Amino acid sequence: MCGIVGAVARRNVVPILIEGLRKLEYRGYDSAGIAIMNGAMERVRAVGRVAELEVRTRELHADAPTGIAHTRWATHGGVTEKNAHPHFSKADGIEISVVHNGIIENHDALRRRLKQAGYEFVSDTDTEVIAHLLHSHVAAGATLFDAVQTTVRELEGAYAIAAISKTEPDTVVGSRKGSPLLLGIGNAGSGHGENFLASDTSALLQVTKYVAYLEEGDVVEIKPDGYRIVDRDGKPAERPIVESQLSSDSIELGNYDHFMQKEIFEQPGAIANTLEMVANASSLSPGLFGANAEEVFSRTQQILILACGTSWHAGCVAKYWIEALAGIPVSVEIASEYRYRDSVALPNTLVLTISQSGETADTLAALQHAKTLGLRDTMTICNVPESALIRQSKLRFLTRAGPEIGVASTKAFTTQLASLFVMTLVLAKLRQRLSAEREKELLQQLRHLPAAMNHVLECEPTVRHWANRFAPKQHALFLGRGVHFPIALEGALKLKEVTYIHAEAYAAGELKHGPLALVDREMPVVVVAPNDVLIEKLKSNLQEVRARGGELFIFADRDTHIEPSDGINIINLGDHAGPLSPILHVVPLQLLAYHAALARGTDVDKPRNLAKSVTVE
Ligand code: M6R
Repeated sequence: MCGIVGAVARRNVVPILIEGLRKLEYRGYDSAGIAIMNGAMERVRAVGRVAELEVRTRELHADAPTGIAHTRWATHGGVTEKNAHPHFSKADGIEISVVHNGIIENHDALRRRLKQAGYEFVSDTDTEVIAHLLHSHVAAGATLFDAVQTTVRELEGAYAIAAISKTEPDTVVGSRKGSPLLLGIGNAGSGHGENFLASDTSALLQVTKYVAYLEEGDVVEIKPDGYRIVDRDGKPAERPIVESQLSSDSIELGNYDHFMQKEIFEQPGAIANTLEMVANASSLSPGLFGANAEEVFSRTQQILILACGTSWHAGCVAKYWIEALAGIPVSVEIASEYRYRDSVALPNTLVLTISQSGETADTLAALQHAKTLGLRDTMTICNVPESALIRQSKLRFLTRAGPEIGVASTKAFTTQLASLFVMTLVLAKLRQRLSAEREKELLQQLRHLPAAMNHVLECEPTVRHWANRFAPKQHALFLGRGVHFPIALEGALKLKEVTYIHAEAYAAGELKHGPLALVDREMPVVVVAPNDVLIEKLKSNLQEVRARGGELFIFADRDTHIEPSDGINIINLGDHAGPLSPILHVVPLQLLAYHAALARGTDVDKPRNLAKSVTVE
C-alpha cells in the first residue's frame, strides 16, 4: 500500500527520496510524487511507476535539502495526478505539503468545516484535509511541529503522515497512528547532518541502518542536526534506536527475474533460518515463544486464530495439526469478519495472530477487538520483528523468511507453517501427548524439511510446461482433502492473484454437492494428492471429475499410485512427508501460478489492484 519517505540533509535529498520510493514499490501503488523545499516549495507527481517520476524530477533539475515523497495506492479518489500525493495547501504566503498513508474516516466532516472557512479542495482524497488543517494552524502562528500535534488530534482513522512548511525550510514533521512510520538517523547514528522518515526500513537502508520505531500517536520533528519526539499526550518521548538487521541485498533481485521467483526458491533457506533454534535443540521448549509461554500455553483451553489471506490459510492448516496432535480446539477466523462479529469470548483462549507484515489493519483491529472482549493471552507469528503485531502481543515467534517483496506471499507462508508446526508440538508435549521418541522423530523430519523442499523445487520444468497449458484458461478448480484443503485454497489464491484466472478451491468431498456442475473439458482441475489416509477417498473424487471430461493436474507423492493417462497429468513430489506434507505440497502450486503469470505476461510482483501490506481497512 502507500509508502512515505522524508528527508532533511545538507545535500540534495531528491535522489534519496526517489531511491526510497523505489524500495517501497513492492508494497503496491499506482502513482507517486515528491515535494521539496529549496526557497520555494515545488512538487512533481506522476501516475504509474516511480521511474516516470524520476524522469520528471531530472527534467526539472529538482535539487533540495528538504523533501517528502510518497507512493499512493488509491483509496479515496481515482488514480490521477491530482489525487497523487504530496498535497498542498497554499495561501497568504503560507505553503504546506503533506503525504499520508491510511484513511481519515472523518474527512467528510473536516472537508465541510474547512470549506466553510474558505479552503478550496482540488483533489478527491481524504488527505487534502490534513494539508488544510496544518495550514490553518500555521496561519494562526503555530510551528509545524505544534500544527501537526493539533491536527492529529482532529483526525479519526489511521494515518502516518509527513509534512513540510515553507516557514521552516529545514524541517520535516511526521506522526503515526495505526500505520507504521519510523525515524532514520543519519551519519552512523550520530543524528548530525541528516535525518529521515519512512514507512518501511527498506526505504532508508541506502542512507542509514539506525532507526527508531515511532509509537501510536507519536509526533516527530526532524532537522539536519537532530530530532525530537512527543507522545500522544504531547509529552517529550524517547524511542530506542536500533540497528536494523535488514540487509540491502535481501531486497535486491540478484540473479532472479522476479521477487516471486526468488522468494519461492529461497524457501529452503528461509525455513532453515526459521527453524534454526529448533533444529539445534535436542527437545522442544515453550521458551521458544517467549518468557511466559509455558504459563500461557498451560492454561490455554482453546485457540482463536485471526489472520487474512495467505496467513489465514496457514491458520487453517494449523487447526488440523493442533486439534489432531495437541487435542486443543481451534477456531480460525478471517480477521475482517471477526472484528465486526458478535462472538463469544471463552476464558483461557489463546488469541493467535498470523501475519507476514505484522501491519495488516484488519488483523491488528481483530486483535484489539479480542482484547476488548477480555482475551488477554495473545501471541503472534510474524515476519517483521518491530511490527505492530509483535509489539502488541504477549508471546511471539518470528518467521525468519527475510523481506518478502512479491505481493503474492510464498516464503512467508511456508515459514508460518513451519512455525505453527513447532507450536503444535510444544502444545502437544505440554499436554503429554507427544512421546520423547515421537518428538525426536518429528524434530528429525523438521531438520530434513529444507532438503525435502529443494527436492520438490526440482519439479519446476514440468510445472512450467503445465503452466503454459493453463495460461489461456479462464477458470481453474483446485481440490484437496483434510489438511491439504487449505493448501488447495492457497494454490487457488496464488493463481488468481498473479494470473487473474478465476480459480476456486474445494474440499474434494464437496465436489458432488455443487462444484461438479462446473466441470467440463475446459476446466483444468488441480489436485493436491499426497499419500495420506484420505488418498483412496480422493481417488474416487478424481473419478467423478474424469467422468465429466475434466482434465486433472495432480501433485502426488511417490507412492500415491495414480497412473498418468489421457486427461490425467501427474507430478510425483517425492516420499510422503507425514504431517509436514502441506509445507511441501504448496510449493508446486506457487510455481504453477508464477509460470502461468509469466506466460500471460502479467506483472508478477505487482499484480493489478493489490498491495503487499494492507494497512487500510
Ligand atoms: O501481511 P499479512 O500476512 O497480514 O497479509 C495478509 C494478506 O493480505 C496476504 O496474505 C495476502 O493475501 C497475500 N497477497 C497473499 O499472497
